[in-house]
This record gives sequence, structure tokens and C-alpha cells, in this order.
Amino acid sequence: MNPKQIAADKAVSFIENGMIIGLGTGTTAYWAIARLGEKIKNKELDIKAIATSTGSEKQAREVGIPILSFAEIDQIDITIDGADEADENLHLIKGGGGALLREKIVASNSKKLIIIADESKLVKHLGKFSLPVEVVVFGWEKTFQKLQLLGCVPKVRLENNKPFITDNSNYIIDCAFNEILDPAELHEKINAIVGVVENGLFINLASKLIVAYKDGEVKIIEK
Ligand code: A5P
Repeated sequence: MNPKQIAADKAVSFIENGMIIGLGTGTTAYWAIARLGEKIKNKELDIKAIATSTGSEKQAREVGIPILSFAEIDQIDITIDGADEADENLHLIKGGGGALLREKIVASNSKKLIIIADESKLVKHLGKFSLPVEVVVFGWEKTFQKLQLLGCVPKVRLENNKPFITDNSNYIIDCAFNEILDPAELHEKINAIVGVVENGLFINLASKLIVAYKDGEVKIIEK
């Protein structure tokens, strides 16, 4: 089985009847949504969910997962999401799929965040993967310069030769730092720039990291 699917199935095994689930975005979270839909269809599970992107919401509706809005809930019980990079402290880089803002809102309103990944995502130090930063379109050129001053090589994310637009109508600037030695400090510095909406560093949000390997082995790191 595909390691992404193995990690997703393991995460879904922690879901119980009656829970409100946060649905992540990306090719790993895809498998969790698919598995949840299968369990609902087989009447093995009765849950409701909030999605972190329009894409995940669409997939969830297609597989029969009832979708709620924040106005209808108190707190999310468990969110299952992927990551672009994760370290042993469970700090993450997310946003490769451009959904980092909604993902962080959902994660921050969840009792537990379970991150699912294949072995390629587990790193010693974050930063090889360029850090996605969501910025307001107005004045983005100045925000770009301020990000550069933090020591990275920034790049506006493109799609079909035009700036990629997030679900929240913003741009993404991908910042190549190469190695991030103090993720918590960098997180604060980036979010202090006017024009930045949010960045893809997830600090102290994940409670469990499920890593699946090609040979089928599963490693769980918990906080
Ligand atoms: C979406 O914006 C991201 O945060 C994803 O969760 C992350 O990019 C992982 O995606 P994959 O599971 O597709 O690698």
C-alpha cells in the first residue's frame, strides 16, 4: 500500500463516533477523507467535518461526509492533515498546496492535530522546503522585500504564469531559507510584517505525527 494511505488509515483509526473532524488538504489528507467517507458509507462511523480548502470540501461532499461551518460548532475534536516537512519536535512547514491559512485556523481550533506523512517529510531541521507565506495582494512588492530582509530567497508562487490565488484571494510567497534553526522565532518575525496574513510554520500545534515507510512500517511521534 502507498505510505500516504497507510498513514491516513492509521489516523482514521483514532476517530470515534460523534466527533467533529477537521479535514486537511493535499495528496496525503486525500486518503484520510476517502477512508472516512468509506467508513460512513459502511455505517462504521458517524461524524461531521470542517474542511481546510474548497478542494477538500468538494471531495468530502462527494464521499458523503457531512460538512459544517464554524458557526455550527464549538470545537473540532481531531484534525487530520498532511505536512510538507515535520521535525521530531512536531514543528511543521505547511502550505505547499496553498491552504495554509485555513489549515492553521482549523488546527488552532482543534483539540488534537494528527499529521500524516510518508518518510520523505520527516526532517532534522525545517527549511529545505521553501516556506509558504500568504500575503495580501495590495502592496505585495513591499511585503516581498521585507521577507527577503529576513534572509530568504522569496518567490511569488505562479500558476499558469500568473500569481497563484489562495482560497482567501491572497498571494503566496515561497521563501527559501534552506535551514530554519529557530522556527518559533522566525514565525513571530514573519507574522510581524504588515501585509503578511499567515505563514506556513506550525509551531506547537501538532499532537501526533504518523509517519509511514515504504516497507509498511509506521512510526508515531507524540507530544
Ligand atoms: C496544503 O496547503 C499543505 O499544507 C499540505 O498539507 C501539504 O502541502 C502536504 O501535502 P501533500 O500531502 O500533498 O504532500
